[in-house]
Amino acid sequence: MGGEEVIRFDQVGLAFGAHVVLGEISFALHRGETLVLLGVTGTGKTLILKLALGLLRPDRGRIQVLGTDITDLEEEELFPLREKLGIVFQEMALFDSLSVYENVAYRLIEESVHGDADVSEEEIERRVRECLRFVGLEDAIWKLPEELSGGMKRRVGLARALVTEPPLLLYDSATAGLDPVTAQTILTLIIRLRDTREVSALFVTHRLQDAFTLAANVYDESSSGLKATLSDGAGRETDTRLLLLREGIIFFDGSPEELRAARDPYLARYFA
Ligand SMILES: Nc1ncnc2c1ncn2[C@@H]1O[C@H](COP(=O)(O)OP(=O)(O)OP(=O)(O)O)[C@@H](O)[C@H]1O
Ligand SMILES: [Mg+2]
Repeated sequence: MGGEEVIRFDQVGLAFGAHVVLGEISFALHRGETLVLLGVTGTGKTLILKLALGLLRPDRGRIQVLGTDITDLEEEELFPLREKLGIVFQEMALFDSLSVYENVAYRLIEESVHGDADVSEEEIERRVRECLRFVGLEDAIWKLPEELSGGMKRRVGLARALVTEPPLLLYDSATAGLDPVTAQTILTLIIRLRDTREVSALFVTHRLQDAFTLAANVYDESSSGLKATLSDGAGRETDTRLLLLREGIIFFDGSPEELRAARDPYLARYFA
């Protein structure tokens, strides 16, 4: 894809003491594209998201997000940029004492109190309901997180990320710890977002099956479910590309077909 870059890492390096986690990371995510960042546990996937959010600074290299070089920005300068990002955290991180409504509305309320956006209460409730309807949880609006299952919490997390209508979504292990059916529900929602709105996404996971599901399916309005693409997972029709992180570098960058065809022993083991 030759579109505008929404995230760009140029030779990014990060170490903790003598432990070099990211040696040299370079990749670009283009508008409308979904990048699936694969890697086994501890390879630095979450760190890459934290770097993209400016929560951590790299030791080396440059990072651009939505056209801004964030590498040297101060904390306050990052706020307006973070407002344009929707994040689905690895740990659900919902506020336990707040209702589903308050959790999802949180950023809108923050913005209307501290920012320049003046959003009325009716408008906030309308948008919260719309996002909860999208994830199939409008009925749970007045519940507390403790009354929800793990999968429901994950969906509330997704609704919360969507409420500001961000052009860029970051997903950290969105399906981890979920049963196969619930994981499929979450992936269907993510594919629906990808295909019905012009959002770009960085999807972090260690699950290869998630990568293939994202790359090989489109959202089908008539069945409200997934439909396999004709090209059998090349990722072109779905604007989805795979990255594999290994030992501090992007070890692979390409389509699922190319990943399958690569006769690399490490990749073969990753498949096994
Ligand atoms: N603040 C920190 N101080 C020291 N080491 C850290 C810090 N944060 C992360 N690390 C180390 O960096 C490595 C990568 O961590 P990261 O959380 O990005 O892994 P991950 O790929 O997201 O793994 P998982 O799939 O388990 O979520 C780990 O070895 C971790 O111990
Ligand atoms: Mg992680």
